[in-house]
Amino acid sequence: MPGGGWHLVRRMEESMRILLVYATVEGQTRKIADHVAERLSGGGNDVTQIDATDVHKAPDASAFDVAIVAAPVHIGTFPAQLRRFVEKNSATLMARPGAFVSVSLTAASADESEIAELDQIVEKFSQETGWWPVSIHNAAGALKYTEYDFFRRWMLKRIARKEGGPTDTNRDHEFTDWVALDKFVDEFVAQAPHVAGKI
Ligand SMILES: Cc1cc2nc3c(=O)[nH]c(=O)nc-3n(C[C@H](O)[C@H](O)[C@H](O)COP(=O)(O)O)c2cc1C
Repeated sequence: MPGGGWHLVRRMEESMRILLVYATVEGQTRKIADHVAERLSGGGNDVTQIDATDVHKAPDASAFDVAIVAAPVHIGTFPAQLRRFVEKNSATLMARPGAFVSVSLTAASADESEIAELDQIVEKFSQETGWWPVSIHNAAGALKYTEYDFFRRWMLKRIARKEGGPTDTNRDHEFTDWVALDKFVDEFVAQAPHVAGKI
């Protein structure tokens, strides 16, 4: 049937090979990476998900069409393993359109100067690693009070109090806006073929 054939061609054109690299300290960025992988695979894409803590080499650029990197901010920077991975593989990553999902508590802030600080953290990351993503999304993370040791709980509670965030340490608090994350990822993947060759 002509209709069926057309549908097949369209689907094949839209299907992308996506490299998804992440690192996590407390687990929220893994949850975000798993969610993104599931959504993109469900949309017919081929996703290769890598934890930069375990894997140190990216696949050849010929094996993927776009790259998405996700990492959490911990004390003003991203995890060392993730930074090393991106630095070591920057040439491979730069060969394809890239998107960065920066996960932090600050992303939940309404204060513009705090968001500007996040932009600087990402800018510094790009300068140090040599990887310049075409799209950046600030995703709010989580406060996992029940999993922190005494010192972390104390520190994060202090930060939360200062920011007007939740200080009930008997439970965890998740701030991730899943709808905004989906929108960012969908738009990036839809636009990426048109970005190729321009970076
Ligand atoms: C020790 C520690 C330090 C943190 N430092 C920052 C920070 O400097 N800026 C920020 O916005 N969020 C900070 N956060 C919040 C994390 O970015 C947030 O909890 C995120 O969800 C952690 O992601 P992960 O679970 O993937 O490690 C910090 C969290 C912890 C536990």
